[in-house]
Amino acid sequence: MWWLMAKFIGGVYRLGLKPVLFRFDPEVVHDRFTKNGELLGKQAWMRSVVTRLFRYDHPKLNQTIAGILFTNPVGLSAGFDKDGRLVNILPAVGFGYSQVGTVTKQAYQGNPKPRLYRLPKSHGIVVNYGLKNDGVEAIVARLRKRQSAQPFPISISIGKTNCRATASMTGGVEDYKAGLAAVVDSGMGDFYTINISCPNTFGGEPFTNGSDLEQLLQQLEKVADKPMFLKMPINLPWPEFKQLLEVAIKYGVTGVVIGNLNKNREDPAIKDVIPANIKGSVSGKPTWRLSNELINKTYQEYGKDLVIIGVGGIFSAQDAYEKIKRGASLVQLITGMIFQGPQLVGEINFGLVKLLERDGYRNISEAIGAYHR
Ligand SMILES: Cc1cc2nc3c(=O)[nH]c(=O)nc-3n(C[C@H](O)[C@H](O)[C@H](O)COP(=O)(O)O)c2cc1C
Repeated sequence: MWWLMAKFIGGVYRLGLKPVLFRFDPEVVHDRFTKNGELLGKQAWMRSVVTRLFRYDHPKLNQTIAGILFTNPVGLSAGFDKDGRLVNILPAVGFGYSQVGTVTKQAYQGNPKPRLYRLPKSHGIVVNYGLKNDGVEAIVARLRKRQSAQPFPISISIGKTNCRATASMTGGVEDYKAGLAAVVDSGMGDFYTINISCPNTFGGEPFTNGSDLEQLLQQLEKVADKPMFLKMPINLPWPEFKQLLEVAIKYGVTGVVIGNLNKNREDPAIKDVIPANIKGSVSGKPTWRLSNELINKTYQEYGKDLVIIGVGGIFSAQDAYEKIKRGASLVQLITGMIFQGPQLVGEINFGLVKLLERDGYRNISEAIGAYHR
């Protein structure tokens, strides 16, 4: 019954709604969905209707990771709920947790428009928001008013304010530290994710080499009071990526989110022509291969030391299962939901239970890293 309802909603979305939505500016659509989601989340009865339509629960999907209970492994990735407006409605849509942000110490209005561009043939989006957000103080104040009763872990993604002053090493470290300290003081969030890999910011990604990351983590380690994850770039060669992992382990980082957007606009997975005036890096299917290869290698070498969150190009339960069997304990998505519809989250959870049953696993935790055994 639930499955039929999800199929129906998915059909209506893909055949009816999406062709209309895809005619509008993607940022306008994103803002409209955020407004509607925020409104729906305010009323208990609306949350309960959405829950009935969208959410799928099963005990096989429950896991405790880093002391945090996750009712299912599917999270909303950073960048969709930039300002923490959707935390009330996301559990109803079926998510197991969410990554709010990326938030920065100072608010930022975003890079010049257009900063989102759809790639329909490639199943991706070119993103150039440049860490647009309301700033950490406004966002934690909003999170404090959260109403949802279900266990729904929130990770706050923390970045470096996108401005000239934070482009230097000291300026950058201080800004990250101040952003994290403000989150810690607020008591909000169940874990933190340090975003070192936003490709669209002033001064680039200075903390994606071992020695600079070391300087950053030395300082952040002093402030963090909850599990800390790192959001990783996906375009680094393995030896450089590995160096970052070793620094992460040295400073007690709990895990890594693999990973961020694809900076290589020449990637053969990109089938659309991207106009020259469209700046930014690519989400969705063009991140799939790079993210999967890095999950494999990270699990093989550091699976005992780091929890892996697998992100990039998840459009189905099979896709999520693939990342889990490669070594991810949790997954996240954005682009799949935009292309397939919001019922995708429940469909993935439903499909994962079927795949676990097929393969004889009692709980999702038994499938993590199955390819490597
Ligand atoms: C519209 C949009 C905004 C994003 N903004 C952020 C961000 O603020 N911080 C971040 O760490 N990643 C950001 N990302 C990257 C996503 O979190 C994710 O790593 C990437 O899109 C791959 O997942 P997907 O293929 O499921 O979209 C953004 C992605 C999209 C599509």
